Amino acid sequence: MSELEEKIAQAREIIDCASNIVVLTGAGISAESGVPTFRGQEGLWQNYRPEELATPDAFWKDPKLVWEWYDWRRNAVKDAKPNPGHYALAELETQGKNLTLVTQNIDGLHQMAGSSNITEMHGNLWQIRCTKCGEIEQNFEVPLRQLPPKCKKCGDLGRPNVVWFGEMIEMALIDTILKAIEECQVMLIIGTSGVVEPAASMGLVAKQTNKTVIEVNLDETPSAGLYDIVIREKSGEILPLLFSSNNNRTLSS
Ligand code: OAD
Ligand code: ZN
Repeated sequence: MSELEEKIAQAREIIDCASNIVVLTGAGISAESGVPTFRGQEGLWQNYRPEELATPDAFWKDPKLVWEWYDWRRNAVKDAKPNPGHYALAELETQGKNLTLVTQNIDGLHQMAGSSNITEMHGNLWQIRCTKCGEIEQNFEVPLRQLPPKCKKCGDLGRPNVVWFGEMIEMALIDTILKAIEECQVMLIIGTSGVVEPAASMGLVAKQTNKTVIEVNLDETPSAGLYDIVIREKSGEILPLLFSSNNNRTLSS
């Protein structure tokens, strides 16, 4: 058995025995669906970094520029379909386990794959929130007809209904995630560079409370040394091999 096959077998057994599982996903899980990740060469948009655009300051300075970036991201996602990684997680939910799926992604691909118990930490790309009255509009227009878009209710400026750098994630949401970590036996961390808080610390919280942590990510991540099993492969190839109803699948290479 190769080292990779051994890790997969170990991870499968651990997941199989667990009744409570927390999964944390990041942009990497959608990479095989053609959605650009944030970090790395292809992650840059017109030489801006997400940290320069995904902020309230950037938005109030130049709402149109920030909206152009979101319009580009909506366009990049609009034809994307879930990949085997998303589907494997949706299937895991049907296996009678208590699964909490926490995602930093705003692309909606977990929903499209059929997962239902999803916590979207960073909001949703397909919602526009009024900066004045707070009205939230579901909007799937690509490209947006009006940039920046206006609120349908009061006519004021709309913003993406996402969490930006420098903004708080609702405490109640963080509490729910921490509680799920406290109650789980296993945490899976998939396709995230592990540099953006608070998501980045969640694996550490799991380790501090003696949970088993399994990471599937292409590149190195800062906390991988603390995790129990680390698989440096594509999530769309590995996740379908980790869950028991896919017993008959094998590695293709
Ligand atoms: P990143 O773009 O920072 O990291 C994506 C990670 O996925 C990288 O470590 C890649 O190595 C890995 N990866 C790429 N393709 C993969 C594949 N096929 N299978 C497995 N792993 C793969 O994305 P996030 O960590 O999600 O926040 O970024 C976190 C947050 O930073 C985002 O939610 C966003 C961003 O700024 C906000 O906008 C608030
Ligand atoms: Zn309004």
